[in-house]
Amino acid sequence: MAKKIVVIPGDGIGSEITDSAVEVLKKAAEKFSLALEYEYKDAGGTAYDKFGTPLPEDTLEACKAADGVLFGAVGGDKWDNVEPSLRPEKAILGLRKGLGLYANLRPVKVADALVEYSPLKQELVKGVDLVIVRELVGGIYFGEKCESEAYNGTERAWDLENYSIPEVQRIAKLAFETARIRRGKVTSVDKANVLATSRLWRRTVAQVAQDYQDVELNNLYVDNCAMQLAVRPTQFDVIVTGNLFGDILSDEAAVIGGSIGMMPSASIGELTSLYEPIHGSAPDIAGKGIANPVGTILSAAMLLRYSLNEEEAAQAIETAVDKALAEGWRTADLWHEGFKKADTKTMTQAVIANL
Ligand code: IPM
Ligand code: MN
Repeated sequence: MAKKIVVIPGDGIGSEITDSAVEVLKKAAEKFSLALEYEYKDAGGTAYDKFGTPLPEDTLEACKAADGVLFGAVGGDKWDNVEPSLRPEKAILGLRKGLGLYANLRPVKVADALVEYSPLKQELVKGVDLVIVRELVGGIYFGEKCESEAYNGTERAWDLENYSIPEVQRIAKLAFETARIRRGKVTSVDKANVLATSRLWRRTVAQVAQDYQDVELNNLYVDNCAMQLAVRPTQFDVIVTGNLFGDILSDEAAVIGGSIGMMPSASIGELTSLYEPIHGSAPDIAGKGIANPVGTILSAAMLLRYSLNEEEAAQAIETAVDKALAEGWRTADLWHEGFKKADTKTMTQAVIANL
């Protein structure tokens, strides 16, 4: 029976990059005899314009019934003044909650061909190979909040951070399992010198570590971790952290790899999982056909790996991307003299030609 992939292009460059990834998936399906079918659904600002909600019920239901979800990007200045509960970002937050996507995996592996794009010195970046495991459905993102209340004659707002032991156990286990099949090292990141949630986090991670004696565990405060990522990023294998710290650290880690346009992610759920590039919807270049499709293509590879268990096809896509880069193809975000300039379609074809 064919495996069903729900494709959510979203806003901005979303449809250009998901088109690319689907073309690559089709080629991989042909090569590895996979039966894949695609169902397109709306979300984000585009869905808000059509249906008055960023996450139509029908989109969520289709995702629940799918074998995997490929997501482009949502958001744009056009919706800046929309009421907070209807903003495009609510689509991705609603999908995380609705599908129980409790873990976000963001691998940062710097290919030798891309070392020159890093804002860090080349000798610091060479060999970086880490993955951030970010808790995705808890913490301050989903705690109780107040947009505005009267306070001492003025106004205040607040967001509540909370974590329960089972929430931390679940993400910690995934981090230790991930480390086991990598280099066996977990760095847990918190702010235990200040926050109560972080103290519970730290002691829970230490308890889970008892079952993983073969994995080395160390703890870092988030401010120190942010600094260490810039000073010696090769020290990291698996970084596990909460929702807000993970959001911030994963952008920092991504840029170490030079282009945010190259970075994929997987959001792991109990039933369906969702795959998306880590960059946004880039409204400034939307419709121009010049967006870098690689982050989305590599996200599709992760979909094959984690949701369909098609490791060989996943690796074939990753290798094809490396080869296209080695041939000198670069989209506008990475191009400079001496390289072959590719628009979105040309880059996609260069990957397909190497598949
Ligand atoms: C991300 C994004 C989202 C987040 C936004 C769009 C809500 O920045 O996936 O990291 O903060 O989680
Ligand atoms: Mn983010």
